[in-house]
Amino acid sequence: MKSTTIAPAHPLADGRTSAAPLVQALRGERPSRTPIWFMRQAGRSLPEYRKVRAGTGMLESCLRPELASEITLQPVRRHGVDAAVFFSDIVVPLKLAGVGVDIKSGVGPVMDQPYRTADDVARLVSRGLDDAALEPIREAVALTVAELGSTPLVGFGGAPFTLAAYLVEGRPSRDHLAARTLMHADPATWDALVAWTADLTGAFLRAQVEAGASAVQLFDSWAGSLSLADYTSRVAASSTRALAHIADTGVPGIHFGTGTGHLLPAMRSVLVSAGIADHAVGIDYRTPLDEAADLLPGVPLQGNIDPALLAAPWDVLEAHVRDVVSRGLKAPGHVVNLGHGVPPETDPTVLTRVVELVHSL
Ligand code: CP3
Repeated sequence: MKSTTIAPAHPLADGRTSAAPLVQALRGERPSRTPIWFMRQAGRSLPEYRKVRAGTGMLESCLRPELASEITLQPVRRHGVDAAVFFSDIVVPLKLAGVGVDIKSGVGPVMDQPYRTADDVARLVSRGLDDAALEPIREAVALTVAELGSTPLVGFGGAPFTLAAYLVEGRPSRDHLAARTLMHADPATWDALVAWTADLTGAFLRAQVEAGASAVQLFDSWAGSLSLADYTSRVAASSTRALAHIADTGVPGIHFGTGTGHLLPAMRSVLVSAGIADHAVGIDYRTPLDEAADLLPGVPLQGNIDPALLAAPWDVLEAHVRDVVSRGLKAPGHVVNLGHGVPPETDPTVLTRVVELVHSL
C-alpha cells in the first residue's frame, strides 16, 4: 500500500493481513501459496449456515451483527480459505436507506415497486443513507476481523448498474431490458439513478473498510448484458464513483462481473480511474485466464473455476482446477475463485478438497 487513510489498528496497517497471500496477489506478487476463496462461500451449501439461519429472514440476518459475523466465519473454519467474504447482500444499503426491498428465497431481491419513471427515481434519490444506519455493518465487520487474525476479510458492494437493474425491473430479470431501455429513453433519469446507487454502495464499502476489511470487491454481476458502448458511456462513470469512496484508504479492489469477456479492459479502467492502486479483475468461467491475461496485460486476475464442475467427478474437477491455476500463471498475481457463486446444492467437502488441491500446487 502506497498511501493510506486507514486507522493504525486496521489489519492492513498493523501487519495482520499486509503479507497475507490474498493481499500479495492483489498487489501483483506471487505469494508462496496461491490464495483461494469462493464467491457465495458463506451460504446455503453449508449445513451450519442453514442451521443458524433457520427462522430468520435473509436481510434480517445481515443486520444482526453476531449472526452475520458467525456466518462470515463458518467457511473460513471449514475450508481453510485465504479470505472471508462478508456475509451481507448488495441490496442491504438500499434497505438501510429505507427502500422497500426483500430477498425472496430462490428468487432474489424484490422491490416494493419498479422504479422506472422520472418521478419514481426522483422520489428514490431524495432518500439519503444516514451514516448511523451503517452501524450494524461496522459492528459485524469489527466482530469478524477480531476473530480472523491474519486471514483478510473481503468487503463488497453491488455496482450501480446491477443495483439499478433490480430497481428498474422491480425484481430479478434475464436481460435487464427495462434498465437498458431507461438509459437510452431518459438518460438524465438514468444518470441520477446510477449516481445515487453509486453513493449508497460507496458508503457501504467505506463502512466495511473502516471497520477492518482488507480488500473490497465490486460485483457488477449483470454488466455482461451491456454492449461495450453502453457500458463505457452509461455505466462506467458510476462504478468509478462507487469505488472512489474508498480510494484514499489504499485498500485493494477487485472488479467482477459475468459474461464480461468484451468488457474486461473497460472494467479494469474503472479501477484505475477510481484510483484503486492495487487491484484485480474478476473473470467468469467463460474466458480462460490466459486469454484474459492477454486482454489485461500486467493486471492481477481472480477466477475462474466453472461452478458447474463442482458437481462433476473429482478427476474431472481436479484436471479443471489444475488447468485454471496453470493458465493463471500468465497474470502477475492470481487469486483462485469460481467463475460465479457456489451453487446451493454443492457438496461442501468438495470445496474443502479444492482448497487443499490449490494449496498443494
Ligand atoms: O458468501 C458470500 O459471497 C457473501 C455473501 C453474499 C451474498 N450475496 C449472500 C446471499 C454476496 C457477496 C452477495 C452478493 C450478491 N447478491 C450479488 C452479486 C453476486 C452474484 O451472485 O452475482 C447479487 C446479484 C445479489 C442479489 C441476490 N441476493 C441474489 C441473486 C440472491 C439469491 C436468491 C436465491 O435464493 O437464489 C440473493 C440472496 C442471497 N444473498 C443468499 C445469500 C447467502 C441466499 C439467501 C438464502 O439463504 O436464502
